[in-house]
Amino acid sequence: MIPELSNPSVCMRDPQRVQEILQSMVKAGSNTVQVISDFDMTLTRFAYNGKRCPTCHNILDNSNLISTDCKIELKELLNTYYPIEIDSSRSVEEKLPLMVEWWTKAHKLLVQQKIRKDLLAMVVQESDAMLREGYKLLFDHLYEHSIPLLIFSAGIGDILEEVIRQAGVFHPNVKVFSNYMDFDESGELRAFKGELIHIYNKREGALLNTGHFQELRTRPNVLLLGDSLGDLTMADGVQDMENILKIGFLNDKVEERKQSYLDSYDIVLLKDETLEVPNAIMLYLT
Ligand code: TMP
Ligand code: MG
Repeated sequence: MIPELSNPSVCMRDPQRVQEILQSMVKAGSNTVQVISDFDMTLTRFAYNGKRCPTCHNILDNSNLISTDCKIELKELLNTYYPIEIDSSRSVEEKLPLMVEWWTKAHKLLVQQKIRKDLLAMVVQESDAMLREGYKLLFDHLYEHSIPLLIFSAGIGDILEEVIRQAGVFHPNVKVFSNYMDFDESGELRAFKGELIHIYNKREGALLNTGHFQELRTRPNVLLLGDSLGDLTMADGVQDMENILKIGFLNDKVEERKQSYLDSYDIVLLKDETLEVPNAIMLYLT
């Protein structure tokens, strides 16, 4: 039906079920569809030419807005907590408090750096941030077909917005839920706004933001894109959901995590740096 679903990177627990979901979405029409996506390592690349690409946090961490001492501390946090994030032998219950610890410590360090709002655009410009191949087609196509794209990120909203703005795809149909920086009158970072979003509380975030989902009540068909098992609950605020198709990028520790991803995502993309499959699905639905 969709040739790209035979790509070597594609794995599905139940291909028949995927076909059924797609068929019922096509039948319902593209005006009933919305896309809910994670950002880091889902819309952005995991690696390029064998080198890891940065997350929103990494874009700041690697920049000259951060002192050398602070860089070392942030690197230590990454080296401590990232292996926990991707450890398939630990439960979410065990990982959750540790992830809160990571985000809390990292944000505290960033706030100490008195980061200036007016320098963020330059930092993003000079970074190695890269959206996945095919991003322009995805963003433009969704915009042209008036399909809402909700980006739900535990990264940093100000950085994320700048990445998509500089890529020329921050269209009016894009809405972002993320951790936003709070700057004082002189334009220096003094805190992060609102409730912290980390990788395991996207469900709570979704439920708190039902206002957004309210607007989208007439769009009960959801295409969900993520790279972490924490991303699976991003659509929990959608009421009267009819169909959801979950596409998961499995970037790292592929063999260890493949089964758990197959159990929870409808389509798993193994070390696939492109948006070819989501794009093929979007084209099919519109
Ligand atoms: P998300 O992709 O689910 O929105 O999560 C954001 C990613 O940010 C997650 O994979 C971990 C990463 N991260 C960093 O790279 N550095 C940090 O300091 C923190 C707190 C998170
Ligand atoms: Mg992610």
